Amino acid sequence: MAPDQSSRGLLGARSDRRSFDKNDHSDSDSDSDLDATEFLDREAQTSSEPKPAFLSSPAARWKSSLARFLAGRSRRCLIVLVFVVGVWVLLGAGGTFAYKKYQQEPTYGLSPPWYPSPKGGIASTWAESYKKAAKMVDKMTLAEKVNVTTGTGWQMGLSVGTNGPAVHVGFPQLQLQDGPLGIRFADNITAFPAGITVGATWNRQLMYARGKAHAIEAREKGINVLLGPCVGPLGRMPAGGRNWEGFGADPYLQGIAGAETVKGIQSEGVMATIKHFVANEQEHFRQPWEWGLPHAVSSNIDDRALHELYAWPFGDAVKAGVASVMCSYNMVNNSYSCGNSKLLNGILKDELGFQGFVMSDWLAQRGGVSTALAGLDMTMPGDGVGWADGKSLWGPELTKAVLNGSVPVERINDMATRIVAAWYQLGQDDETKFPRQPPNFSSWTNDRLGVLAPGSPSPQPQVQVNKFLNVQANHSIIAREVAAEGTVLLKNDAGLLPLTRQGLPDAKLKARRSVLARATGKQHTGKFKIGIFGEDAGPGNGPNACKDRGCNQGTLASGWGSGAVEFPYLVTPIEALRSQFNTSRVALNDYLVNKPPTSAMADLELCIVFANADSGEGFTKWDDVSGDRPNLDLQKGGDALITTVASTCGGGVGDVIVVIHAVGPVLMEKWIDLPNVKAVLLANLPGEESGNALADVLFGDVNPSGHLPFTIGKSLKDYGPGGQVMYRPNGVVPQQDFTEGLYIDYRYFDKQGIEPRFEFGFGLSYTQFKYSGLEVTPRKTKSALPKERPSPAAEPPAYSTAVPDSKEVLFPEGFSPLEKYVYPYLRSVDEIVSDPYPYPDGWDTKQPLSGAGGAEGGNPDLWEVYVEVSVEVENVDGVAGAAVPQLYLEYPAEGEEGVDFPVRVLRGFEKVWLERGQKKKVVFGLTRRDLSYWSVERQNWVMVVGGEYGFAVGESSRDVKVRGSW
Ligand code: BGC
Repeated sequence: MAPDQSSRGLLGARSDRRSFDKNDHSDSDSDSDLDATEFLDREAQTSSEPKPAFLSSPAARWKSSLARFLAGRSRRCLIVLVFVVGVWVLLGAGGTFAYKKYQQEPTYGLSPPWYPSPKGGIASTWAESYKKAAKMVDKMTLAEKVNVTTGTGWQMGLSVGTNGPAVHVGFPQLQLQDGPLGIRFADNITAFPAGITVGATWNRQLMYARGKAHAIEAREKGINVLLGPCVGPLGRMPAGGRNWEGFGADPYLQGIAGAETVKGIQSEGVMATIKHFVANEQEHFRQPWEWGLPHAVSSNIDDRALHELYAWPFGDAVKAGVASVMCSYNMVNNSYSCGNSKLLNGILKDELGFQGFVMSDWLAQRGGVSTALAGLDMTMPGDGVGWADGKSLWGPELTKAVLNGSVPVERINDMATRIVAAWYQLGQDDETKFPRQPPNFSSWTNDRLGVLAPGSPSPQPQVQVNKFLNVQANHSIIAREVAAEGTVLLKNDAGLLPLTRQGLPDAKLKARRSVLARATGKQHTGKFKIGIFGEDAGPGNGPNACKDRGCNQGTLASGWGSGAVEFPYLVTPIEALRSQFNTSRVALNDYLVNKPPTSAMADLELCIVFANADSGEGFTKWDDVSGDRPNLDLQKGGDALITTVASTCGGGVGDVIVVIHAVGPVLMEKWIDLPNVKAVLLANLPGEESGNALADVLFGDVNPSGHLPFTIGKSLKDYGPGGQVMYRPNGVVPQQDFTEGLYIDYRYFDKQGIEPRFEFGFGLSYTQFKYSGLEVTPRKTKSALPKERPSPAAEPPAYSTAVPDSKEVLFPEGFSPLEKYVYPYLRSVDEIVSDPYPYPDGWDTKQPLSGAGGAEGGNPDLWEVYVEVSVEVENVDGVAGAAVPQLYLEYPAEGEEGVDFPVRVLRGFEKVWLERGQKKKVVFGLTRRDLSYWSVERQNWVMVVGGEYGFAVGESSRDVKVRGSW
């Protein structure tokens, strides 16, 4: 069939002004001289999953490459090789170290087999879309089906990912774009606050509203699929580089925030992608070669922790109807996530009943046939194992694999159907909303003109690629609300905050001045003297100074990597404060550096000091932050700045307000207890409206209602052995054993009785709330197991399983392909060879269906409310504000012998607006899943029938106000 000529076969020059650093990291792949067929044909050896090619033995592969090289290549090649290897060795010192120390590779594929891949189309919620999809897919040629599943290659479209269209049946090319906090690489968009800030709001409506606004912008820019939200990493390690993209270190909070975001995004018809499935908890060694190792880290997780922690939020997203799931770079239990049949076929598609499509992270696919069998439906960006190599593991290889019988026709049909069904499910067949055109912006150039496939060296015509459409509408309002509500007030001694525009209210000012006079002998008069300190209060070199925001300079409003965007503007704290303080009453001095002159400080009455900590995605390193932070310290001398200001401001007795912008927890021990550090605000990562949102809180226009989405410990060690990033590999395939099981973040602190500095869920307000009248109302009777798995509400589409005529996959006559662009076609039928494929162990054993499955989101009984808990919350102090009642569940340990339970786990929260003196009743509905634990023996969620469940409702994981039981 003719390919979509609007996006293929175009002529012109390459333009990659904004091509990003990933290329720099991946090109050292020593396997890049292999063609994809070699990868498809490798032996699986002893594993239960087929082994990706380079896992068969890197040492052997290197030896044979060297032999080939010595046998005939030129001296010039030798010099180049020596240089490349030299650079690689330097970059990958960690990897080299591991090679020396550990000769032995662990067996690949220890994750259990789960086959065959469950077909989509069993859920009532998707039935109509599957019917429509079946009609379309039935008419597709094999090449078209393959095209739909395979990315066209890095920079082969205007967005970060594009698959191929199925032109003759009317299925367009899909445009996929990052990321979780705005439209990446785009102009005139909103830079929303990051996920971690959203988590800190604990406000479901705002979570939804931000998702919706994000999707409106995506649709108007021409995007079909947003690559967010992110709920993995979960935050097992507080220094993990990408924790800030997600919503906090608790599966329940992540789950609700992820699901609300998905609903918001999809309410606008844009497909959401929940990522990264699963356990991509650290950046170090997340993918082969980026860290000098040929393999990714293996996150080794037990079945229970996988269910109760890491996969939990994905369950919420599936229940919310998410269209797409992105599998992660790392291995899980020594099988690559994107080729892990237990994860994709077993947990995601069978147990959770996921009806959409599984997409690989960018280059996370490490095998061809094996990944198709394991449940991967779409490969992105479509290249092979080397960045931008154009040698897809699918594309023509998948075509061959179907024709030679290695991949069953049923599987490719299901892959294509899942993608087309998701497109119908979101109403993207409506051309008025989703015109079948490339996006109206280019990710790769800021110029008006450019080419449509800049990743290809083939000549292409210049066309208008940037239309500079402003899609921001009034979304800055949502961005500001999220940033303000996501600001956590950690300390407010003597009610220093809120300030007024004139500094302090008159009476307070008078009292304060007499205290200062007594302490220092200096009587202040006239304007109230305020000093603002720290680089983090100011603009630095502008918000977009570093590519992908990959450095820490100026005020911090986002982490770095694919989860970051180009800021359209950034209201800095200093800008907002300068414009809002009443300068006829306040003398404002600023020192936007981290080593300010101390001479000026003695004369000040109030000092506001800013400090921060940044991190990001592993393809960029800044200072000593290689994606993951090396520690939890404030960066750029933040601690010294704060202690210096505290000891000198107003002669050492001036009031100090500390404002922190950070990607996660930071240590505060050096200054938190200093008597004149009166107030501390953690503003997380606030996005473009940073300064305005901060001013809203400082001046009390917004009463702070943010609560911590993680624990702030007194030291990194306090998070336990499981809380430590692995910075040096412990093997050729780094083995990261999640031996702490369920005990991460507050679950660990509680179990070990460790006193945190500020516990999970903590956050102050300018008012006080009183809790009373807890009532427990059972809605259903307790029983250990959920009802029997229901039979499918609908039947997956049935198609012919005959292997199609191989002629239909040949390049169309007269077609001139772009170099490196991934097409599904073959040049000749001779390319189809039919050696036996080394199927993984267990491939032909049909697995029993999970009792926890049966519908979208799993067994419907798991989502039934079994008990309701209600409490009354009253605003008993001075000003209106929002309370965040949190419900923590305490399992009846005595009812389940031999099963260990955390002290308590979050299972409910609400955000309640209360006028002064107002009282409201809040009702939490606890579902069967909320009340259950995952039983490894029974392979199901089990409710504890003996003993009593405890319900602790309060303002944090430790500040329990009222209790009840069932
Ligand atoms: C990241 C993903 C992102 C993708 C596309 C990968 O490196 O891990 O989160 O969506 O790139 O940019």
